[in-house]
Amino acid sequence: MQISPSILAADFANLQAELEAISNADWAHVDVMDNHFVPNLTLGLPVVEALLRVSPLPIDCHLMIADPDRWAPGYAEAGAGSVTFHVEAAADPQRLARSLRAAGARAGMALKPATPWAPYADLLPELDMVLVMTVEPGFGSQRFLADQLPKVAAVRESVRRYGGQVWVQVDGGVSADNIEQCAQAGADVFVAGSAVYGAADAAAAVAHLRELALPHSHSA
Ligand code: DX5
Ligand code: ZN
Repeated sequence: MQISPSILAADFANLQAELEAISNADWAHVDVMDNHFVPNLTLGLPVVEALLRVSPLPIDCHLMIADPDRWAPGYAEAGAGSVTFHVEAAADPQRLARSLRAAGARAGMALKPATPWAPYADLLPELDMVLVMTVEPGFGSQRFLADQLPKVAAVRESVRRYGGQVWVQVDGGVSADNIEQCAQAGADVFVAGSAVYGAADAAAAVAHLRELALPHSHSA
């Protein structure tokens, strides 16, 4: 069970300190938005490179961008430990996942709430993680979409049948109120923005979320 706090909810003027505040987490989730794939703009490769120089945690890049085939490998080459592209935006997901792995990153593939899993299940051998969005991508602090839990369960079932090690991540509105449901459905990597950085003590919030998810672990 891994916790990946989203720095989208952190103080962008103090990102180094904000990363240090969550050093008990497993990853730092960095939301890259291009004002094209989603109607919001956050940060890009130069800022990710700067974060990589100071982060106590590996970086989990969530690319909400158009044309990831062209741009995503640069984040892997820069040293991001995990790079997740949206399947809706990718021209050739299989080839892109292979190039992310070749550049030394874990390859992640994300699905928007309206995107079904079944058509992509055959891609599992190319992937290290599947991200099931539990909000419409673009903004933090939105309401958790519980209707995505069956998709989480379907991805977990595909992973079980495939037999490989593929993580299942949930992102969007994840909090102490629903992380157990997410874990029960089969998620094992939990992104939380406002639930961590909105708390008085970010590290305590990370520890609490982990404690809630842990009893529902389904991995060996
Ligand atoms: C949404 C982002 C999420 C989001 C998480 O587009 O991908 O990572 O910022 O923030 P919360 O936990 O506040 O929904
Ligand atoms: Zn995200």
